[in-house]
Amino acid sequence: SKEKGRYFDKRAAPALYEMFEAAKAEGINLYSRSTYRTYNLQKTYYDSHVNKYKKQGMTEEEAKKKTEEYTARPGASEHHTGLAVDITTSEWENAGRGLSISFEETDAGKWLKENSYKFGFILRYTKEKEDLTKVKYEPWHFRYVGVEHATRIYEQGLCLEEYLEQAE
Ligand code: DAL
Ligand code: ZN
Repeated sequence: SKEKGRYFDKRAAPALYEMFEAAKAEGINLYSRSTYRTYNLQKTYYDSHVNKYKKQGMTEEEAKKKTEEYTARPGASEHHTGLAVDITTSEWENAGRGLSISFEETDAGKWLKENSYKFGFILRYTKEKEDLTKVKYEPWHFRYVGVEHATRIYEQGLCLEEYLEQAE
């Protein structure tokens, strides 16, 4: 299925569409800025961050560590599954705000945090669970897990790592 020309897993695409419609009904114009990524696309993002940090004087190792705070190694990104999506709003994009954690303070950021589970999405990398997810807080990154799991994860305040451990 396609969302503005970007691929998304067919199990999750209708849920994503429903969520966007529900937000729109409340005056929030969600925008999916990144969905499915190939290995090569993730590698392009990853390498460009590593090179940027190296130009700032970091060693290769330091640059990789810094990059991996926000960008998974190629092959290890959830975006490869077609079940992860970075969501902001059209207004946010038009204002050139990009991926800044202040997105959490916007009406859209708050709405997504409180309502995404109803459509089967979880806020994947929360502020409280950075130690467990090993990724810095990303108020824009959502992962489809289905309504049942998303509701439990939301209600129990877990991250996916904890939830999966509990299920073992
Ligand atoms: N930003 C997340 C961690 C990714 O690159 O998959
Ligand atoms: Zn993401």
